[in-house]
Amino acid sequence: MARIPESFVQDLLNRVDIVDVVERYLPLKKAGQNLSACCPFHKEKSPSFTVSPTKQFYHCFGCGAHGSAVSFVMEYQGVNFPEAVRILAESVGMQVPVEEGVPNPAEKKGPGLLDILATASDFYRAQLKLAPVAITYLKGRGVVGLTAAKFGIGYAPGGDDWQALKQVFADYDWNKLLPEAGLVIEKEETKRRYDRFRDRVLFPIQNQRGQVIGFGGRIMGAGEPKYLNSPETPVFEKGRELYGLPQARAAIRERGRVMVVEGYMDVVMLHQHGVEYAVATLGTACTPEHIKKLLKLADEVVFCFDGDAAGRRAAWRGLENSLPEVTDGKELRFLFLPAEHDPDSYVQEFGREGFENFLTQEALPLSQYLLRELSAQVDLAKEEGRAKLLHIAQPYLERMSHAPALQMMLKKRLAELCQITANELDSLRVPARKSTDARSSRTVERDGANKLRPRGVVQGKRPQQSPQAQLLGLVLFKPDLVASVEPEWRNWPAGAGELAVAVLDAARENPRLEGMVLVEAWRETVDFERLMAWYRDACQTFEKFTEEELVDQFSSTLAAARQSLARPSVTGRKTELDFRRANGGLTEAEKAEYLSLIARK
Ligand code: UTP
Ligand code: MN
Repeated sequence: MARIPESFVQDLLNRVDIVDVVERYLPLKKAGQNLSACCPFHKEKSPSFTVSPTKQFYHCFGCGAHGSAVSFVMEYQGVNFPEAVRILAESVGMQVPVEEGVPNPAEKKGPGLLDILATASDFYRAQLKLAPVAITYLKGRGVVGLTAAKFGIGYAPGGDDWQALKQVFADYDWNKLLPEAGLVIEKEETKRRYDRFRDRVLFPIQNQRGQVIGFGGRIMGAGEPKYLNSPETPVFEKGRELYGLPQARAAIRERGRVMVVEGYMDVVMLHQHGVEYAVATLGTACTPEHIKKLLKLADEVVFCFDGDAAGRRAAWRGLENSLPEVTDGKELRFLFLPAEHDPDSYVQEFGREGFENFLTQEALPLSQYLLRELSAQVDLAKEEGRAKLLHIAQPYLERMSHAPALQMMLKKRLAELCQITANELDSLRVPARKSTDARSSRTVERDGANKLRPRGVVQGKRPQQSPQAQLLGLVLFKPDLVASVEPEWRNWPAGAGELAVAVLDAARENPRLEGMVLVEAWRETVDFERLMAWYRDACQTFEKFTEEELVDQFSSTLAAARQSLARPSVTGRKTELDFRRANGGLTEAEKAEYLSLIARK
């Protein structure tokens, strides 16, 4: 799929003024340095939606909606990222560039390609009726005629000239849309064209409106590749589409459940046996886009993976991509089939009831799956193992910023596993900070020199942020802080805050950018939500700092990072605490420090 170069998005965001953008849709009133309005994203009577011209972002103190001009257009107009970029670019007379060799979706997406694909699909479907080998193959796999029809399964003829599609495309040799749709391949030297799909059973891939956007073609005998798929085209983006969605939609709505499996045949056979809420990814892991889509479809999402190693890896990717998207009220579960099965073989052997019983009994809720996988990496019988678990679980907990209740239960369970109390867990740096619902409003007041606490939050010890995390916040708030210092973070040991390092570097390369614009470079990555939350927090935290205070804070935090990353002092402190632990015990605060020290490796 066409990628919009990051640098363009940054140029664009420097060019557009968020005030103009928002004003196109809502009247804004001056409110001090900022402008305000009643929030368009939730119902309210008094305006808590604020636009900052200096920081180029909007923030709603009522519902927490927050973002750049791009996010605003996406949310308000309900369009995707490339489309929002296109709208904004158009408004300031800029042309969205296209990275070399990649088609521009805005220009080329159109009825043309979809028409061509529909014609091809009709042709392939008709060919199936004329191909006894293909019919025999499908029958042999248990597919009945009704199912084949429901999914529009077809057959691409082999033949000698490899130009079967010529039968329906008179302009086969020169129609530019045929190669663009991924249907024909053109030999570079001879310019001769031939069909991409030859002698394969074809599964048409449809978008959610039921239009054919590509194909997956299975070889009938042995051979490589087992499945040949359409390439990505302006209308087919693998990371977004779900195979079987139009066929599954009614059942998904009725059951309030959607299940994602790995293969075309799995979907087809599950449907045939009555498990009609099944869809599949297209040979890719479950992307954040997939997860967003799935969570919109139903409150209950089941990820069903084959029991092999590849299935396990795919499941973990799915989990990682789910965390930032999950909200309370949604139920995500992970189902692992026995090693010798995939959903197709399982449902053929045990039927719908057997499959659904298995699902009910075996599917692991996200929290259990997460803790099971993480605890498997440590030795829970040892103090060090438990401390390490606390340490490695932290980033996962932090990412669940939209599911505070689930996050809280996970923390409780984590505390149990680690044999500490929930209070002790909170006194570590496990994220009480992010556990406040990111959508709730929260203001921060100064509380003595550089110590901050959220107003209206129960008073307790504020969890200690690592210096790296603080630096990250500072640099998001004011990227040019990094301009005048040595980039010493490049020497930090691996694992000392990769994201912080990346952001510090990015800021140093583009010191004139606003933090919000910097964050845009991480859109569509797993870290995006996390950075947004960080950014939001940083804005609230540092708002009242003077320029000078910010510079001071930055250099002292940098020094703190330097110190905390120098191993000897950690070891020294640990030895000291070890000694004191053996001779009379530690205070509660020291216990927490000790735990976090041993968790550090
Ligand atoms: P599997 O190898 O699990 O195949 O691939 P399957 O779905 O069980 O297929 P059958 O039962 O052997 O016919 C799962 C999915 O991975 C993608 C396809 O989307 C497939 O459905 N895949 C697999 C490919 O794209 N290419 C391949 O060569 C293999
Ligand atoms: Mn299979």
